[in-house]
Amino acid sequence: MAADPVHIEMTAKLAAYYRRFADIPFAAEAAALIGADEAFEELVRDHRLDREQLTFYAPMFEARYKSVTELIRKSGVTQVLELACGYSLRGLDLTQDPAVRYVETDLPGVVATKRRLFDLLRERHGIAPGPGHVLAAADALDVDQLRAASTSLDRSKPVIVLCEGLLLYLTRHETERLASNVHALLGEVGGRWITPDFVVRAWSPELPSERARLREAVSGITQRQLDASSFEDESALTTFLERAGFAATTHRQVDETPAFASMSRLGLAPDLIERLRPALRVWVMSGRVD
Ligand SMILES: C[S@@+](CC[C@H](N)C(=O)[O-])C[C@H]1O[C@@H](n2cnc3c(N)ncnc32)[C@H](O)[C@@H]1O
Repeated sequence: MAADPVHIEMTAKLAAYYRRFADIPFAAEAAALIGADEAFEELVRDHRLDREQLTFYAPMFEARYKSVTELIRKSGVTQVLELACGYSLRGLDLTQDPAVRYVETDLPGVVATKRRLFDLLRERHGIAPGPGHVLAAADALDVDQLRAASTSLDRSKPVIVLCEGLLLYLTRHETERLASNVHALLGEVGGRWITPDFVVRAWSPELPSERARLREAVSGITQRQLDASSFEDESALTTFLERAGFAATTHRQVDETPAFASMSRLGLAPDLIERLRPALRVWVMSGRVD
């Protein structure tokens, strides 16, 4: 049986830590307010990791976040249901446009911390809470909780269901359940599923040792075998998605990222982007009606 997902909550601080090196709205402030640096320091100390050898994660998180945002914008869809939102501030950013409705969900512990974070950021930036932006606790594997969380969305308009950084921690069985939940929701309202999360082993380079050690540490803390739901090659993923009722288009995150700020801020070698390009993808999927 899969371990309690509550152990996965800490990974939200890791993502927030790496996003702070990019020029992503609210990212640096959010990281400071939730103690992301301290969480990262503790991880590095407890597992004797060399942080200098892990800086290349910053452009990876930057590409992941920016490419998803760019694809949402390009889609023209103005409603988003984000699953496993962590401490990502895309919802706060995109709802500056009053036409956007954004519902973001995660497990109760993360949601409680994020509510306090929103209060602080709204006060600092003079952003009034509004009905277009909702934060709610919902287990992504429970379709009824997702339906209950998303009642503020306009059911006559399409929705983008988004998850970023969740599938890595799920078993194959959980991934199937998640896909079935998303399919059911999109069947009710129409729209797209966007995720950068599928891992195709044939595209993934061999891990440098420090990166493998970080993954081991995260695997221990989350009590999850990372990539348990990875796919051997593209055709295995296509078969999975077809069975789940989805037709997918694949984009390269690097190509959908308007500009990288973390590269110069961290003094990283420019060829890193070219090395990341083949492995980092993002999928946009529509549910087939069978
Ligand atoms: C790596 S973090 C990613 C968070 C965020 N999307 C980001 O990019 O910063 C993984 C997130 O998945 C959430 N999570 C894990 N299992 C979940 C579940 N069953 N339902 C909802 N959220 C879940 C965790 O609480 C955590 O916030």
